[in-house]
Amino acid sequence: MKRFSGKTVLITGGASGIGRGTAIRFAEEGAKIALADLNTAGGLETAGLCEAAGGEAIFIETDVSCEQAMQDFVESAASRLGGIDVLFNNAGFPGAVGPIEALSVEDWDKTFSVLVRSVFLGMKFSVPHMKQRGGGAIVSTSSIGGLRGYAFGHAYSACKSALLNLTRSAAVELGRFNIRVNCICPGQILTPMAGGDHSDLAALEADMATRQPIPRAGRPEDIGNAVLYLASKEAGFITGEIITIDGGLLA
Ligand code: NAI
Repeated sequence: MKRFSGKTVLITGGASGIGRGTAIRFAEEGAKIALADLNTAGGLETAGLCEAAGGEAIFIETDVSCEQAMQDFVESAASRLGGIDVLFNNAGFPGAVGPIEALSVEDWDKTFSVLVRSVFLGMKFSVPHMKQRGGGAIVSTSSIGGLRGYAFGHAYSACKSALLNLTRSAAVELGRFNIRVNCICPGQILTPMAGGDHSDLAALEADMATRQPIPRAGRPEDIGNAVLYLASKEAGFITGEIITIDGGLLA
């Protein structure tokens, strides 16, 4: 019996990077997975990789910032997989970048919609299913950018910081329903988002390796392993916690 056999896991931002790496780790442990993303080709590819890794997976094209789309994703996933045990709120993008006086209100609001409203929506629609099931685990992806100031990334930093207290307040409310809520703060992880339009990934990886005490680039599966732990019964007494996974960068 694998660690997540029979468990159902919803993952946003599952078409790429950390979401994909985490989905594959859950699949290797026998989970049934529903992936949400705007990127259909990438989402279908991740679903295929999950099946190849031993899990079951479906992909549903979803804009996580849209209330109706998130409700449809959660309801459809719950009905097709048979309930919800784990929600991994992970979709993201760099958002509005620039000096404060140059940021537009529209870009500011869009960043909050994708990075914060989405997590609220994921919780809002999944929690009733978890209560019905007698418990569950929610993990959300913040960032070391939510723990420290991030010049020119004001919106991103403010959003990721907002997730810390959304995590804590939801954990306080939901503990009595056996629903645990935790948050991870990745450091620099080798994904398309971290790479931007970097054409030389080997050079990027070598550069990342010089920046923290553990001398290698972080990988999606490093994050996935922490998410699996937080979602597992071994973490049954951990809630409202923020875990930094950065190779010691902030140590
Ligand atoms: P990525 O770009 O590889 O994956 C992000 C995924 O989110 C993409 O597949 C994208 O299509 C999806 N997405 C973006 N907006 C969406 C929307 N409105 N609706 C549905 N899907 C949407 O990036 P990565 O690195 O895997 O990022 C995952 C999470 O990790 C993000 O929340 C990011 O902020 C966070 N993070 C990443 C770090 C890194 O170094 N890569 C460091 C700290 C945090």
